[in-house]
Amino acid sequence: MKLQLSALFLGLAATAVSAQDTQTGPYYLHITGKEGSSIDGYASACHAGAAIEGLCLGPETPPDSYVYEYYFNTSSYTTVGESEVGTIAWKLPYTDQDGNPAVVDQVLGLQYQINSNVAAPMFGWSTYNLWGFDADGKLFGYTYYDDSTFTPGTNPVPSGEGVANYQWYVCWQYFTGYYYQSLGWATTSPPHNPTCEAVDVTQVLVS
Ligand SMILES: *[C@@H]1O[C@H](CO)[C@@H](O)[C@H](O)[C@H]1NC(C)=O
Repeated sequence: MKLQLSALFLGLAATAVSAQDTQTGPYYLHITGKEGSSIDGYASACHAGAAIEGLCLGPETPPDSYVYEYYFNTSSYTTVGESEVGTIAWKLPYTDQDGNPAVVDQVLGLQYQINSNVAAPMFGWSTYNLWGFDADGKLFGYTYYDDSTFTPGTNPVPSGEGVANYQWYVCWQYFTGYYYQSLGWATTSPPHNPTCEAVDVTQVLVS
């Protein structure tokens, strides 16, 4: 039984991870306040450690800079309804071994604190989550099961059918010495961080 379960979960994980091979973009991410919040700005990749960037609240008009531009990698395997699901990337500039300018994709993943339900989405190398854009261009987080429905001892055997979650906030967040007004993701409502304001994040094609 245990063996079967791990095989199932490995299978699902492999489906989600493999062949994220079509890249579209660049896109801006437009952040707009909900529930009476007046927030209106564009997400900018902000330095939060060595080759780690958060998504800061930037100006109302996006400056012409790679700092505001993101990419979406999908495979056709994972979807929520009609929306493809995949990874969000930002292109980190660096100098290659011949001294020429180069870029490398970093992926967006949620970084949690152990005492908060608010995670910071960060571009890095290891942790990533699966995201999608709905028919209105709104960025959602992908899940395929909900542990609030679990019962003891009965495997929920998720169907694998995806669900779109929208739990974006803009909050003042602390990362290794930096204190930024930046995007946050609250796993539950209300967010633990009292500075958080609920927002939508919308995809805008860079023209
Ligand atoms: C996204 O897809 C492109 C094109 O296949 C690939 O070069 C790139 O490495 C991928 N990036 C990520 C973060 O998966």
